[in-house]
Amino acid sequence: MGRYLPALLSILVLGACSKKQQEVVTPPTSVTDYSYARFDEVAVTHMDMDLTVDFDNQKISGTATFDLDNKAGANVVHFDTWALRILDVTRDGKTASWSLGDSVAILGRPLSVAILPETQHVTVTYETGPDARGVQWLSPAQTLGKKSPYVYTQSQSYHARSWVPCQDAPANRFTYTARVHVPEGLLATMSASNPTEKNAEGVYQFEMKQPIPSYLLALAVGDIEFREIGPRTGVFSEPGMVDKAAAEFSDLEKMMEAAEAMLGPYQWGRYDVLVLPPSFPFGGMENPRLTFATPVLIAGDKSLVSVIVHELAHSWSGNLVTNATWNDFWLNEGFTTYFERRLDEVLYGREYMEMQALLGKRDLDLDFEEYGADNQDMALKLTLGDRDVEEIPTTAAYEKGYLFLRLLEESFGREKFDPFLREYFDTHAFQTMTTERFVTYMKEKLFEGNEALYTELTVDDWIYKPGLPENSPQPKSARFDQVDAQIAAFNKGTKAARLKTEGWTSNEWQRFLDNLPQPVSTARLTDLEDTFHFETMNAVIQRSWFPNVIAAKYEAAYPALEQFLLSIGRRYLLRPVYLKLAETPQGLEWARGVYAKARPGYHSITQQGIDEVLKWDEVATDGGTQPQ
Ligand code: BES
Ligand code: ZN
Repeated sequence: MGRYLPALLSILVLGACSKKQQEVVTPPTSVTDYSYARFDEVAVTHMDMDLTVDFDNQKISGTATFDLDNKAGANVVHFDTWALRILDVTRDGKTASWSLGDSVAILGRPLSVAILPETQHVTVTYETGPDARGVQWLSPAQTLGKKSPYVYTQSQSYHARSWVPCQDAPANRFTYTARVHVPEGLLATMSASNPTEKNAEGVYQFEMKQPIPSYLLALAVGDIEFREIGPRTGVFSEPGMVDKAAAEFSDLEKMMEAAEAMLGPYQWGRYDVLVLPPSFPFGGMENPRLTFATPVLIAGDKSLVSVIVHELAHSWSGNLVTNATWNDFWLNEGFTTYFERRLDEVLYGREYMEMQALLGKRDLDLDFEEYGADNQDMALKLTLGDRDVEEIPTTAAYEKGYLFLRLLEESFGREKFDPFLREYFDTHAFQTMTTERFVTYMKEKLFEGNEALYTELTVDDWIYKPGLPENSPQPKSARFDQVDAQIAAFNKGTKAARLKTEGWTSNEWQRFLDNLPQPVSTARLTDLEDTFHFETMNAVIQRSWFPNVIAAKYEAAYPALEQFLLSIGRRYLLRPVYLKLAETPQGLEWARGVYAKARPGYHSITQQGIDEVLKWDEVATDGGTQPQ
């Protein structure tokens, strides 16, 4: 819908005939990597936001002012938007003509603004729509404290455009500043320098000095408190959890030291973690300076902190050297999983690391089973086309990416591979990277032109073909061998109390529960549960426990299962449980009943994942509809 009045006005203001043509605003006709932005022509280099968070109307509104680098002398700049209401646009303080193009699924609508080659700034006044998919509004009941509402954003992969107009593609970087107005008694936090205390005015200032891609823009507002952990680290969460969170993450400073020793100086100043309410759809999200994390990590025994190690590692792989397109996603996640494991080894020992690697390998095998090992989505380099990146299975990016880098490590030795990695990150800091450029760099710096070795390691198969090549590294864990011996004993009839489980951690329990024969009899499940009480253990163990419950139709555990499905929001924990339920008609029906209650509380990303598993569009009239 074009707005022609402003266009006419600006022609009048400009006067000179020769400039009239510059006021025609044409939306872009093609799309690159899910974005309408043509940042190779006009790039945003800085964004300044002045935002008001209105909980009563569930709206974020305000202005976004962009500094432009008009490399091509273009007369139009394009931004991505999704379900945004655009109220006004100015350029260098004067009314500008603009148009909002047609809405396209996933992409939303391009906002095109007429500029002059010399235009420095564009300011967009806007408000979010009621269905902003990158924003989750939580009622007080959905928080721990139950007293205040909460809102947070999740911008990866292309949801930033649903809460602020932007050039929403990973290949463009910009710095940002923000002023955020929130109701009294609430604290605002962002992926930037953060306040640590509430103020009476409810106005907070933010600055991100390092250039970042749009998917790392983040905002959270709620009854949030801060606790310091070390000189550069701390934790934010609701008051009722902040001390427990500080204890759980007391290794943060050590993690940073280990990461810097491997990857070079941390470039972002502080590293804090924000623990969100349970509906947060991920384990963690690497928003720079402020990782967002699920509260299920607060397990009481540090058993799930490797998720934080992972998000911290993204401060290099992803945030410093960024995948140029979502087809290169493995450059973010495969490298990060590799660093996560290397740091786990330093922090928690080789055995711990190997157990994590084996659990990751199982997730990879499950994806091979579900989607087919020969499915092209099981290649490292993806070919997404116009598919929604969030509907693509991702374990290959993480775990096959990990195994590939481990293969290089084992082939070249750490004395050669580690300096190679370090130099790669130093050389490409604050840049984007494609798979092809990484391959060229690796051929030159690591293989040093040794084509025979490159061929022998089947590097191109690893990167461009689906499945797992035969030379894949094989993680080994003595502790898992011991678990496997106990599974064998269980299979021969050994009672739960006689199994040798002393000293088992979360990892061993997952291994055990993931590999029990299917189904276990209800009598034996009762014996296991009465002896070990899985339902009081952490949520990752429960993710492995409940599929056993479902396979055995062990009804005594269904109330706990229902509670799990209602109280957890992390997609990774929920999906295998719903998948198991969906295997039988009765299970599917029961799951749909619970899901009807749980779905409104889930984040749209989790809803999307579970809708697909339960074929929710067959059940609900409003299911899966995505307004733009
Ligand atoms: N960046 C990802 C989360 C993500 C991926 C968001 C794709 C949107 C699209 C984050 O770093 C991540 O990988 N989280 C994992 C952590 C785990 C692998 C340790 C998660 O949430 O499960
Ligand atoms: Zn990650």
